[in-house]
Amino acid sequence: MVTYICLPKILKMRYIKIYVVVALFLVSCKTTKETTYQAKEQSVPVVQNTSNIQGGMWIPSLLEGMNEREMQQLGMKMTAKDIYDVNNSSLKDAIVHFNGGCTSEIISPKGLLLTNHHCGYGAIQSHSTVDNDYLKDGFWAKTIDAELPNSGMTVTFIKRIDDVTTKVFEGVTEGMDEALKMKQIAKNISKITKNAQKEDWQDASVKSFYKGNQYLLFVTETFKDIRLVGAPPSSIGKFGADTDNWMWPRHTGDFSMFRIYADANNRPASYSKENVPYTPKHYLPISLDGVEEGDFTLVFGFPGRTNEYLPSVAVDQIVHVLNPAKIEIREKALAIVDKYMRSDAEIKIKYASKYASIANYWKKWIGEDQGIEKSKAIEKKQNLEKEFSKKISAKELVGYKTLLSDFEKLYKEIERVSLARDYWIEVAYRNVELLNATFRAYQVEQAYKRGGVQAFEKARESVLNRYKSFYKNYSKIVDKPVFEKLVKLYADKAPKEYVPSNMEGVDVKTLTKSIYETTQFTSFKNISELMSGTAEEVMHKLNEDKAYVFGKELHRMFFEKMNPEYQALNLKIAAIQKKYMKALMEVFPNKRFYPDANGTLRVTYGQVRGYEPKDAVYYNTTTYLKGVMEKYIPNDYEFDVPQKLQKLYESKDFGPYGENGKMPVCFIGTNHTTGGNSGSPAIDAEGNLIGLNFDRVWEGTMSDMNYDPAICRNIMVDIRYVLFIIDKYAGAKNLIEEMTLVHPKK
Ligand code: ARG
Ligand code: ASP
Repeated sequence: MVTYICLPKILKMRYIKIYVVVALFLVSCKTTKETTYQAKEQSVPVVQNTSNIQGGMWIPSLLEGMNEREMQQLGMKMTAKDIYDVNNSSLKDAIVHFNGGCTSEIISPKGLLLTNHHCGYGAIQSHSTVDNDYLKDGFWAKTIDAELPNSGMTVTFIKRIDDVTTKVFEGVTEGMDEALKMKQIAKNISKITKNAQKEDWQDASVKSFYKGNQYLLFVTETFKDIRLVGAPPSSIGKFGADTDNWMWPRHTGDFSMFRIYADANNRPASYSKENVPYTPKHYLPISLDGVEEGDFTLVFGFPGRTNEYLPSVAVDQIVHVLNPAKIEIREKALAIVDKYMRSDAEIKIKYASKYASIANYWKKWIGEDQGIEKSKAIEKKQNLEKEFSKKISAKELVGYKTLLSDFEKLYKEIERVSLARDYWIEVAYRNVELLNATFRAYQVEQAYKRGGVQAFEKARESVLNRYKSFYKNYSKIVDKPVFEKLVKLYADKAPKEYVPSNMEGVDVKTLTKSIYETTQFTSFKNISELMSGTAEEVMHKLNEDKAYVFGKELHRMFFEKMNPEYQALNLKIAAIQKKYMKALMEVFPNKRFYPDANGTLRVTYGQVRGYEPKDAVYYNTTTYLKGVMEKYIPNDYEFDVPQKLQKLYESKDFGPYGENGKMPVCFIGTNHTTGGNSGSPAIDAEGNLIGLNFDRVWEGTMSDMNYDPAICRNIMVDIRYVLFIIDKYAGAKNLIEEMTLVHPKK
């Protein structure tokens, strides 16, 4: 799961809540357009065979024209208006962006929120100590007073979505150069957001769709008092951990619960004892009837980022150049962190969240590479490109003639700097914590250089704030060997022109020793001391610190060389990609086009379906508690099973949640999901909650670049397992009583 936010360009890391305002990090989303694409007018073709339905992440406000018929064909009993309506309550009022990176849904009239265990993980960790370990033992608030506040946590509702494409392109003409176009677009967007009709406590933002061919305005409402209500022990919520991650068959009860608090007027407010549980416009009823193969499913949430329309050259580069480098770096870091986590209980808690986050995409990239290879995605794209070329020369669409060769040229040009940039992100930003800390200090120095003492003071305050949470979970013992391994890797393998001179031919072992012996960057106490004094004094002390001096060269390399070069090329690529997107839709009017994920609210739908991962093997749709017991390894790090759960299994004490004497745990479907969809509700044909999305299957992790309906499946926890754990395992009947349980099939 990755969080991708276009504007403002912010890199937000999951689990560790670190937001870095590096205005320059991400693939630019700002692309331009001169003629507007009206997605409303195109509806997806109706097919005879529902197993042919090819995924897609659709815009909730445009379902009526585009998808309603197809959805009903698949078994849906609702109308598009039941899903999204501005004037009446609809499903969308129960769907909440959770802390910027996951999805959650409201399941009671008192603002009770359901999301994944791995989405609440950082919060659960932050309330845990070795003696009172909620990650290990779980947490259940048996009364409202016992619910735990989480500083900094937010959830966001979508109030309204408007198409503002025409306004965004006002004053933008074909002849303008890219930078100028972007300036004009940014100007228009800021005007649109400023003038958007909304209440004082609401926000407005504009997002780009179809690679910059369409723009939508979102009016949102963000709540800031979110409290932890319940979480199962990790042996349920994270059962199977990294071994089972991205895999089917799966047996994880990946859920946790929170509650939204509001002020006396039911509006957003910062944490206060006086706040009360939020009263939602809509909450999801919960079906006790379960699912079977072929049932309609709808997943409603906030997918982060996909890249379905990349040219073959780009996919080739990701699979053969960028992913392998990132996989190697993370593999080395993870092996070290894992070793220390296994031997020290305190380190295990400190690094639990960080480890999970790093391991998650490490494994995803491996699956993605294999899936792209196996599904022959590059060849498929090449064939499409051949057909595209034929069609445009037949139609004499001269404007599109050089698109593919432009891609080829530009991707060749950007390759080395893309790779270098990934080395910097993975080594200096994500995995070596000491270097991340020096990066923040580097920002303070830059602020001082640019804005003098005032800017310095402001930057120092914000950095010290970050350091406070950062060092709470820092261990020099773990970080030092990571530094040594990864700095060596960078020096040896990053493209030479992007290796700073202080890294060339250096003896990394000696360097590591001398840095970690003397630096002030390894504890909050020391770094606060270093950061105290006048701006001049701090600058002096910083530039005497060996870690800082070393890190600074790497960060300078990033900001002064890598990133400007990367951004300049990327701007050109984005312009071509925008044109290519438009061209594809024009040249293949009967193909299915949906906008790539961009962190906005989307509807995806499909059916409960098994799949064939390889010849002669068929994977069923549903797993059961029996399978948990089959995987059980006493006292294991990943596969231990709590005694109470074993007892419930043996006595078959499943209450109203079991099915023919069995307890369903997870199921899969053909819904097209990605990172950010975690915690999304799986909804039945009538709008009831049937499951909680949390993952995808190994063979289909390449769906972000090549959705293949034959093998791409999303994984959901059966809602009955969630209820069983809350009720029978945790005894939290107070929570069950808040919910509305229904029997739509009976
Ligand atoms: N793969 C899922 C997603 O991308 C679940 C990740 C959490 N679990 C883990 N073992 N890291 O977020
Ligand atoms: N596990 C992902 C998430 O956290 C979902 C996915 O990538 O399928 O959003």
